[in-house]
Amino acid sequence: MSVFEARGLTVRYGALIALGGVHIALEPGVVHGVIGPNGAGKSTFIDALSGRKNPSSGTVHLDGHDITRRSAQWRRQHGVSRSFQRTSVFPSMTVRQQLSMVAHKNGRERLDHVVDTLGLGAVIDRVCAEIAYGTQRSVDLAIALLGQPRVVLLDEPCAGLVADESGRMLEHIRILCRERNVAALLVEHHVEGVFQTCDVITVLDLGKVLVSGTPDEVRADENVIRAYLGSAA
Ligand SMILES: Nc1ncnc2c1ncn2[C@@H]1O[C@H](COP(=O)(O)OP(=O)(O)OP(=O)(O)O)[C@@H](O)[C@H]1O
Ligand SMILES: [Mg+2]
Repeated sequence: MSVFEARGLTVRYGALIALGGVHIALEPGVVHGVIGPNGAGKSTFIDALSGRKNPSSGTVHLDGHDITRRSAQWRRQHGVSRSFQRTSVFPSMTVRQQLSMVAHKNGRERLDHVVDTLGLGAVIDRVCAEIAYGTQRSVDLAIALLGQPRVVLLDEPCAGLVADESGRMLEHIRILCRERNVAALLVEHHVEGVFQTCDVITVLDLGKVLVSGTPDEVRADENVIRAYLGSAA
């Protein structure tokens, strides 16, 4: 059974249907990419899955249980974690203070493994405002992964990163999610990186699923080539 599932998830903003009946099923240790043009509904999808936004219809399931009406806080406490499209580090705190606070709130995990894998050891006692933007994004990822979540929803972790940094970030996501058996949903504009990193990819367009499948299936899909990838495919 999938650890986390959305069935027919629909979100409206007034007359606009930002998300129209989307299904997705996430499996432990599998990185599931979600791509689509600006305004496709990707962040809205994460907001509805994480409990930040109530859907107009459809349901969200954790281990087969309907959690659609559970709060964002409840979901975080029960292993559904997320990161935001914009960095959410506290600028005046050190990396260690920030990670310790999250680890404490979410189950007193030792920081060493995540810190080592993400290469944060060298900046652990620096305040976040003073570290490079790319490193702040690694702190965002560390925050999302602390407390041993079972599901992470990552909204554009590579936003604002240069190509090398994006490649490293995606590699870290893949390694950490596989090692920890975390089900990951990865929203990202860096399409080539998504094809290289993800096991499964769903393409959203205007709030609907255009196609969902393996990277090879998605790359070869005529609708995707026409509507999204164009000559980049
Ligand atoms: N708070 C809101 N109020 C009204 N409309 C909104 C709101 N948030 C998003 N929308 C609209 O919903 C649609 C989906 O937006 P969303 O931010 O989910 O797209 P996205 O795929 O994440 O885009 P991007 O790639 O630019 O981050 C867009 O048409 C957007 O303008
Ligand atoms: Mg977005």
